[in-house]
Amino acid sequence: MIIQSATYLISSPEYTKCPKPDRPEYAFIGRSNVGKSSLINMLCDNQKLAKTSSAPGKTQLINHFDIKSYPQAHVGGTLKPDAWYLVDLPGYGFAKVSQSQRKQWEKMIENYLRKRENLISVFVLIDSRHSPQKLDLDFIDQLGEWEVPFCLAFTKADKETQKIVSKNVKDFLDAMRKTWQFLPQSFVTSADKKMGRDKMLQFIETCNSE
Ligand code: GTP
Ligand code: MG
Repeated sequence: MIIQSATYLISSPEYTKCPKPDRPEYAFIGRSNVGKSSLINMLCDNQKLAKTSSAPGKTQLINHFDIKSYPQAHVGGTLKPDAWYLVDLPGYGFAKVSQSQRKQWEKMIENYLRKRENLISVFVLIDSRHSPQKLDLDFIDQLGEWEVPFCLAFTKADKETQKIVSKNVKDFLDAMRKTWQFLPQSFVTSADKKMGRDKMLQFIETCNSE
């Protein structure tokens, strides 16, 4: 897939305020600081698109990005690009927010995930440096109860050896097997090294054309 353009559209405090659901949509979710905004920037090849920060809790609203893409290299011609949305969501598990803020976050995310009709798949981001975390596994089980389609993106793979990353990925998938009969598609990524970009874009392209 070739990204023709990627532009920030709008930040919404709830799903009812999101743009008209007239095209496929993919949302990025995961713990605070796991690398959601960085991965969106890497996929779009634009470091300034989604705001990133070394301090957790940077992203607080439902952020829509308008993407136009072509299936492959395309010179001139009349081919219309595919239009779709990428969505950057706030992270979960951020220790510094109050109980009431957390409740508000949970309601906003639950409503968005369960009611957004054009949501094709959620990318759940997991930090590849760590062994399986209960918070992530519980969140995934919740998605299952809500019947929200998702896949996994293991992040920051440049920060550990390949051996450790592979073990953490395997352990995570093994932990999932306890409650899941089928495992989702998963990607190993690094925003710094552009690892996983082609595979993720290929996945999105396939979903877009179905
Ligand atoms: P919140 O919006 O606060 O929930 O965070 P986020 O999940 O959007 O994380 P963000 O993309 O802002 O990245 C958090 C920090 O991790 C930043 O300092 C990034 O530079 C760093 N980071 C993200 N992805 C990678 C990666 O693949 N490799 C390395 N080395 N650092 C990364
Ligand atoms: Mg962010």
